[in-house]
Amino acid sequence: MTILQQLEARLAAALNTTLGEPVTASVTAAADLRFGDYQSNAAMVLAKQRGKNPRALAQEIIGHLDLAGMATADIAGPGFINFRILPEAFAARAKALLNDERLGAPDIGAGRTVVVDFSAPNVAKPMHVGHIRSTIIGDSLCRIARFLGYKVIADNHIGDWGTQFGMILHGWKTLLNKAALEADPIAELLRIYREVNAATKDDPAVLETCKGELVKLQAGDPENLEIWQQCIDVSKRGLQRIYDTLDVKFDYWLGESYYNDRLAGLVDEFLAKGIARESNGAVCIFSDGSCKREDDPFMVHREEGWTDNPAIIRKADGGFLYATTDLATIRFRIDEWKADQIWYVVGVPQQLHFRQIFAAAQRWGAAADFRHVAFGSILGEDRKLMKTRTGDNVQLTDVLTEAVERAAKLIGEKNPDLKGEEAAEIASIVGIGAVKFAELSQNRLTDYVFAWDRMLALQGDTAPYLQYSSVRVRSIFRKLDTAFDAASAEIVLSENEEIHLARLHARFGEVLPAVLEDFRPNLLANYLLELARAFHSFFEACPVLKSDEPARSSRLALCELTGRILASGLGLLGIRCPERM
Ligand code: ARG
Repeated sequence: MTILQQLEARLAAALNTTLGEPVTASVTAAADLRFGDYQSNAAMVLAKQRGKNPRALAQEIIGHLDLAGMATADIAGPGFINFRILPEAFAARAKALLNDERLGAPDIGAGRTVVVDFSAPNVAKPMHVGHIRSTIIGDSLCRIARFLGYKVIADNHIGDWGTQFGMILHGWKTLLNKAALEADPIAELLRIYREVNAATKDDPAVLETCKGELVKLQAGDPENLEIWQQCIDVSKRGLQRIYDTLDVKFDYWLGESYYNDRLAGLVDEFLAKGIARESNGAVCIFSDGSCKREDDPFMVHREEGWTDNPAIIRKADGGFLYATTDLATIRFRIDEWKADQIWYVVGVPQQLHFRQIFAAAQRWGAAADFRHVAFGSILGEDRKLMKTRTGDNVQLTDVLTEAVERAAKLIGEKNPDLKGEEAAEIASIVGIGAVKFAELSQNRLTDYVFAWDRMLALQGDTAPYLQYSSVRVRSIFRKLDTAFDAASAEIVLSENEEIHLARLHARFGEVLPAVLEDFRPNLLANYLLELARAFHSFFEACPVLKSDEPARSSRLALCELTGRILASGLGLLGIRCPERM
């Protein structure tokens, strides 16, 4: 059990005695160590419900609290109960973690299946830095959820059936350069897409032609289907290369097209069940009046007042839409994969879409927990949306290449002894790690500024700093001439720096579930920074190899545990640790 869980259990027992009935109460890590390590507002909440004096109730609860060997408790402010953990309890916890492969992570996901829908770029359109957020956040959430015992299904719901294929088909037939397609298929597809797109703006006839190509494709025209299939194949190969660079894996790539033959039936079912109805020839889902209009995704406030804001699932011309596909996808994931939860890692602009399809799926009886894990934009250093000098969207591959180049330079300066393949490997680990960490250490909802120097700084809140910290831990063990068995070491904590390091070790298994509460990998990222800082202070204040037993073994064990948690935590963010750097 984590220390937090132990405190909750003991608090629950005390509440039971105090109130004469079972009540649960939560304990949180204290934001400020001056007030203790953990705190609970249980007395305040319960006093309010029962018309009691909160401080008096807190006093009573503390009187019944058995914290032997673990902590002391006192009352603060209006009735907070603050817990201060005894050093021996931190020592015992560190000892337990050294013998636990999971490093104290609780099994909160056991028996639950979650589908994580992330990355999902659109085929034959550029995968730009906006997709990087989804890819990196989604991958990290998958890793963390798996570590916490969930059955995770990572599904890349690529946009392989969008209206862009009208333009691609027309471009393929009139503009395609076969040699360029062989050399760099994604770039060539992008070129023809861009050219046709520009042409449609000048000439409405071109737009009509493209629409015609799309209609033919959707009607199953063999030539167009064949071209479409080729586009999908080359694009997938190009994407796979990016995912390999990023070390991101999917269990499935079920794109939009996978659901094509389920859409008509779905619309019929929605009509039959009265969830959708016809409106001007289209089939739409309207509000069912079940919630306040302010919260109703099918209502919108415009100048003239509140009006309907339906989700269209079949257009008047018979075509299906993004929402239709997403509803069919939900059904599939629940029926076939038995998903208990579905997490969509998609930018803020699609918020309304998700609110609508979640509400629609619920009316349909879909019994899963849906979450839109939204995120903001990436800004350039000028604080405007990140663009290239020519005004195009920055492409993900370019960002990754530049990251690795910059990391190579940095490493060359720091450690000129590293050469050849090893140097290249480290540059890739550090460069990609820096991009990922810059993303994951942000609050996902805020727009973040993409600043190379800041994300690659060795002394900053960066991946290279954490990787460097882990290298430093490893180098301690390289200096030993006999193998060190951390599992059997006795932990004795006397210096404040040692106690603080052990306090943070104990937090690892508590931070991870907190990440999934609101999908905030930045909690883990920031925790790791705190851990690395605590390690450096410890290492400055407490001699390790030169100290006497039992301090020496105890300190070595603390180093070992720090190294393991850093590596594991970075791994959960999708970031690797080099042996040297
Ligand atoms: N392809 C979409 C885009 O790039 C994202 C898809 C997200 N997933 C979903 N099930 N709608 O905007």
